Amino acid sequence: MRLSTKLSFRALLLPVLLVGVVVIAMGAVVLLSASSFARTHGESSAAGRIRLGGGDQFRGGSRLPLPVLRTREDMLTAICAREPLRSAAEIGVQRAFFASELLTRCPGITSYLGVDLWATQASYDDGANVDNSTQSRIYDEARERLKPFSNRWRLLRQDSVSAAAQVPDGSLDFVYLDARHDYRSVQDDIIAWAPKVRTGGVLAGHDYVDASEIGGSWTQYNWTQYKDGSISHPTKAVRSAVSEFADLTGRQHLVTYGDLWENLPYPSWFMRM
Ligand SMILES: C[S@@+](CC[C@H](N)C(=O)[O-])C[C@H]1O[C@@H](n2cnc3c(N)ncnc32)[C@H](O)[C@@H]1O
Repeated sequence: MRLSTKLSFRALLLPVLLVGVVVIAMGAVVLLSASSFARTHGESSAAGRIRLGGGDQFRGGSRLPLPVLRTREDMLTAICAREPLRSAAEIGVQRAFFASELLTRCPGITSYLGVDLWATQASYDDGANVDNSTQSRIYDEARERLKPFSNRWRLLRQDSVSAAAQVPDGSLDFVYLDARHDYRSVQDDIIAWAPKVRTGGVLAGHDYVDASEIGGSWTQYNWTQYKDGSISHPTKAVRSAVSEFADLTGRQHLVTYGDLWENLPYPSWFMRM
């Protein structure tokens, strides 16, 4: 080796060694602090370290979402300003309050399908479960409310899951789920309607809360009951069904700040398909 090469090799060796020593020392510090955190906070797995049991340091505080999108109307405006939605379905229409917001805020939607039983159900402990003559009046009211939107809408007076069978997969830009809120029914609706949304479309819904979280005068209703009368889940409802679906399918889901009902938030959720 030439002398000049030997000298420049030696000159390089010392800084390289120094950098190596610094990197190893920093790694050791990170490992030591992680293990001391694990010692003081329980096991080292994420599930063990962030315990949600009693006395956990992360419990308490506010669970309100950040007020980026305040209401579901803000959600509609934000989505429709950014991307052209043409076809939509809403599952659980009732008086068509949300339907008329959707058709107003999203003028590009030329095909709205509203699905609702508009009928009393045996096991449905919810404020929406009124007697059949009231249901028929509500159906008429919905049609009346949608009249100004001429030929952009269609209503199906049918059960959610059986109605989904009539809709081709991947044919909708936007689906909003707001029918039964018990855990298994929300899962049923997600399974039936998520495939109807085209890739890149938006699946959304109302009342991102669990059965254990309903409050105010709504505590008289019981979102733990499945349509066959069995217990869907003792505590879970919309929040769990939606967040579990998002986790299982690797999707981000966003939640509005919430429509306030007796000062309690009933947020909407939405995710890209
Ligand atoms: C909370 S209301 C919908 C409110 C409406 N989305 C709005 O925001 O203006 C729930 C509706 O879901 C309907 N519903 C409940 N279970 C259903 C089912 N299995 N199939 C179709 N509609 C259902 C009820 O008849 C009721 O009208």
